[in-house]
Amino acid sequence: MAMVCLSDFEAYAKKYLPKIAWDFFAAGADDCSTRDENILAYKRIRFRPRMLRDVSMMDIKTKLLGTEISFPVGIAPTGFHQLAWPDGEKSTARAAKAMSTCYIASTYSTCTLEEISAAAPGGLRWFQLYIHRNRAVSQQLVQRAEALGFQALVLTADLPYTGKRRDDVRNGFRLPPHMKLKNLEGAFEVCKMSLLDPSVTWNDIHWLRSLTHLPIVIKGILTKEDAELAVRHGVQGIIVSNHGGRQLDGGLATIDALVEIVEAVQGRVEVYLDGGIRKGSDVLKALALGAKCVFIGRPALWGLAYKGEEGLQEVLRILQDEFRLSMALAG
Ligand code: FNR
Repeated sequence: MAMVCLSDFEAYAKKYLPKIAWDFFAAGADDCSTRDENILAYKRIRFRPRMLRDVSMMDIKTKLLGTEISFPVGIAPTGFHQLAWPDGEKSTARAAKAMSTCYIASTYSTCTLEEISAAAPGGLRWFQLYIHRNRAVSQQLVQRAEALGFQALVLTADLPYTGKRRDDVRNGFRLPPHMKLKNLEGAFEVCKMSLLDPSVTWNDIHWLRSLTHLPIVIKGILTKEDAELAVRHGVQGIIVSNHGGRQLDGGLATIDALVEIVEAVQGRVEVYLDGGIRKGSDVLKALALGAKCVFIGRPALWGLAYKGEEGLQEVLRILQDEFRLSMALAG
């Protein structure tokens, strides 16, 4: 089967993954209107291309908080990569390094932070944090990540509780017994989302700041009001995200939320976006509307499901080629 675009990987993953894993990856909250809107919104945005502008040489590199990446697409944090491929997050780390881009490793990884680091030494990695009720565990995770060379901390702000994903409820989704939330082993019983702390507020940014020298990026911002608060609380970056439509259903597509946030922030911090990126032209639209970089969630999992590290590299390479072509054709 020739893999030409990201939908080919989606079709492969749907066909070959166990249904319970496919459903978990695909899930949106409630009737999935925000998940689907993330994708539909790109189709409503149209280019005004310019011609005869010498596009024979193009530079698609960019910098994330000062570190160069090969093109403006990184890997969003998603949990449970071993559901897609036996090597799990180790393969993800290797693919990201091979493509010289950033991988945000999830708190809910099925490999330890140490395994992820050792799999791809020197790769650009950020660590995504969910704050747990037992703050000592979160503190220890942050400090482990910093010691291992992760270069930023990504605090996910949109999950005080887990959204209602109907298929996961129907399937009674839980991790198979041989997979573990390795970073939390010993600290928690596996997969008890209720251990997340729903009382987290902006004040906790100060607490995080006291634990680490790492830059803090906040993920899950959708309004100018919260963007302003994020800047005022001293974060270095914002990821405009609705968790791939898995949390509050009925909200805006992220690409539609981006503009007011970029306007509010006025370049004071870097603004990134995730949700619904499926083509190189989507990346270009997000950049044209002010994002510094985008991140992919589900497409990375489809790449892993197809062929592990190689499959994910192929997904990234296709997006890179499509992005370069869109840039050239848009002048
Ligand atoms: C996620 N997402 C997520 N976010 C996060 O901060 N920590 C996590 O552990 C997870 N886990 C997770 C699992 C799965 C299966 C999905 C699909 C998503 C959200 C993720 O980082 C990102 O916001 C979305 O996936 C982006 O949307 P697309 O690219 O999947 O459309």
